[in-house]
Amino acid sequence: MNFNQILNHWYSANKRDLPWRKTKQPYAIWLSEIILQQTQIKQGLPYYEAFITKFPTVFDLAKAKEDTVLKLWQGLGYYSRARNLHASAKYIVTELNGIFPITYNSLLKLKGVGDYTASAIASICYNEATAVVDGNVYRVLARYFGIGTPINTTQGIKEFKSLATSLIDKKNPGDYNQAIMEFGARQCKPKNPDCNACPLNKGCVALQKNKIGILPIKLKK
Ligand code: ADE
Repeated sequence: MNFNQILNHWYSANKRDLPWRKTKQPYAIWLSEIILQQTQIKQGLPYYEAFITKFPTVFDLAKAKEDTVLKLWQGLGYYSRARNLHASAKYIVTELNGIFPITYNSLLKLKGVGDYTASAIASICYNEATAVVDGNVYRVLARYFGIGTPINTTQGIKEFKSLATSLIDKKNPGDYNQAIMEFGARQCKPKNPDCNACPLNKGCVALQKNKIGILPIKLKK
């Protein structure tokens, strides 16, 4: 099995049962990905549930008062996420008749949606082969392929995005993106990963070169 097949296999056996994995509705995926930008799944889950219950559709969110939205966000931090979410909901309702943008490029126009979130929504909801590169993905790729380019440099960002794009499963980009993120979060952990139990250990360059502890490299700026 190659890298993709091993990852997909691992994901089928290990993926968590999460509410946003039962839907391809862009509103639900968008909400989950905004929450997960700076928050771990465990902390984000109750907020996702609260939001989707109180505002089941983009129309409900657009109608809400900003205070109500911010109050529901309380405790999550990075409040600009909540303000952008609300502003984007209003924009989608008033300017786009409530219809979500359906391509990576058009998703990027939403406030609070950058490369990472646009790639996640486009791949999960619309099968567009756009690769997600978050901290988990940097770690998995840097270790498995033994890449020492610092991840917080222009060169590093370009190199990892291009590698991630070359690996993406064109038939199932959404699952592939979620598989590699989840693999980074649960198996290829930042500290003391259990490499003995790792299904990718045979091809992992960092493991062979004893570099698990130093990859990925992040420059102090
Ligand atoms: N982190 C952010 N979004 C995620 C997703 N859809 N699956 C797994 N981890 C994530």
